[in-house]
Amino acid sequence: MCGIVGYVGNKEKKEIILDGLQELEYRGYDSAGIATIKGDKLNNFKAIGKLKNLREKTKDFSSDGFGVSIGHTRWATHGKPTELNAHPHRGKYSYVVHNGIIENYQALKSELQNDGIEFLSQTDTETIVHLFEKHYAQKSDPFSAFELTIERLEGAYATLLISEVAPDTIFFAKNGSPMLIGFDGEEIYFASSDTPIIGKATEVCYLQDGEYGYAKDGEVILFDASGVKNIQKQPLATDKAMAQKDGYRFFMEKEIYEQSSVISDTMIGRIMDDSIVFDELDDSLFEGINAIKICACGTSYHAALTSSYLFERISKMRCDIEIASEFRYKEPLLDEKTLFITISQSGETADTLEALKMAKRAGLKSLSICNVDNSSIVRESDCAILTRAGIEKGVASTKAFATQTMVLWMLSLYIVDKHSIITDEAKAIEIEAMRRTPKALAITEKLHGKLHRLSKRYLHGHGFFFIGRDIFYPLALEGALKLKEISYLHAEGYPAGEMKHGPIALADSELFTIALMPKSMHYDKIKSNVEELSARDATILAISPEPFELADDFVQTLQSSHPMLEFFEMMVVTQILALEISVRLGNDVDMPRNLAKSVTVE
Ligand code: M6R
Repeated sequence: MCGIVGYVGNKEKKEIILDGLQELEYRGYDSAGIATIKGDKLNNFKAIGKLKNLREKTKDFSSDGFGVSIGHTRWATHGKPTELNAHPHRGKYSYVVHNGIIENYQALKSELQNDGIEFLSQTDTETIVHLFEKHYAQKSDPFSAFELTIERLEGAYATLLISEVAPDTIFFAKNGSPMLIGFDGEEIYFASSDTPIIGKATEVCYLQDGEYGYAKDGEVILFDASGVKNIQKQPLATDKAMAQKDGYRFFMEKEIYEQSSVISDTMIGRIMDDSIVFDELDDSLFEGINAIKICACGTSYHAALTSSYLFERISKMRCDIEIASEFRYKEPLLDEKTLFITISQSGETADTLEALKMAKRAGLKSLSICNVDNSSIVRESDCAILTRAGIEKGVASTKAFATQTMVLWMLSLYIVDKHSIITDEAKAIEIEAMRRTPKALAITEKLHGKLHRLSKRYLHGHGFFFIGRDIFYPLALEGALKLKEISYLHAEGYPAGEMKHGPIALADSELFTIALMPKSMHYDKIKSNVEELSARDATILAISPEPFELADDFVQTLQSSHPMLEFFEMMVVTQILALEISVRLGNDVDMPRNLAKSVTVE
């Protein structure tokens, strides 16, 4: 995720862009940049790190009077967080900012390089500006050149382009990444979300995928594939705090709802027709490797545990999982044929970081799966896969878990693909299921309403058991952790088949059992386990595609042939249930007591 802001008008442009970027800094803060054109004067500033560095660099620059300006705050995907890789990217006489991923940038780049164009950055974005100038050289019409450029792009983009050949114009296009246009009389604003323009613009138009156009002389001309379109404006919200949460009550709620779209970002450019591609992995990473060890904490540990089933089942690779704080002091026996994987949302968790350093000292190759580029764990690892969940503000992790799990699932297929030990048919089944995941993560009003109503039964009692088998066991652990963190009620995750070995002694009507009962995996086994609890009067909330007559409460999920799709759908149910219980109890959902987003102490 990155953030972009643009402005055409008479006001001090630098301040509008910098203030706007400040609101979007949560989307990424690897670097920031701004470009302005006023008459024939073009200015451009970039700085790595947080926005304050760009503010410092531009403190003596002013840009009032009519002109155009674009700005960007970056969350690195292609190329390291350096100044050269910071946006805006320039051609000979134009500048571009972009949020998203241009999937065919390698092909475009080669084509442009063959034309003799020299690239300054490692980014996919730079291709846009050179393509524009190539087409302009042929057409001599800036808008046609922009249109032709957009036609060539594959992937996700929200992009703004300014050029000395049209110094009063901003060209824009949106496909798959967010962008809106704000209006206040003749003043025109662009941004990735509405917070940067609240208090500035009075009306807004939320662009749809496939829309593009230009802003000039206080007017916006909008197109899509069928030609010129009417602009649908609506009044702009005036409450910033509400807007940051996009109308949701809590960041956690927003992040639960976002999962369906961020999981697409996780997959984009990594799932090809019949294989998984991780450009960030060196082919040599798996050479000589015959086992995997994963270290993580909390929710990231649950993603790790889920993946241990996938690595052994899909990749046929031995996989051990360790809680990082335990691993550190157990004097583990480490073998150089083991690939050491760390998983962390923040990339700063002290226990995980120390575990990684230990493994490196023992000579193991290391891979991190992380949401924050340039974090300590990413820097310390031999290589890293970014989960691309975007910044997670709720302390209770949700979309980070979903995206970590997706990366691990893809990795399990990537490994097996490299060694050609999977049939094309089996591979196609996995890939098809991956592609269907965004749908499994979508939340209907009906489902949320049901969980809201159900939650009132679950505000007391002497404890919760979340139970499941196989990959649904780590999901049970995760469901219990979510509930504990934000409701402060006691909850445990347990393997369903293990209840009879002790915990069933707790069963009575005040023991709440949240039973994960997928149809695609061990349904009859878990059904028997739940029946045993029901026979002892435990209160059962069953989550399943199949109605279960002994359940006190029942949440019906979709029938699916692939367990991972059931996994993701049930994950959302447990997240919303925890949220609704917490809200009813009057707790601080986003900042639960005693916790912190990043645990940098041992
Ligand atoms: O940033 P990390 O993923 O390394 O953090 C690990 C745990 O601290 C974290 O998952 C924690 O358990 C969350 N509060 C879970 O919601």
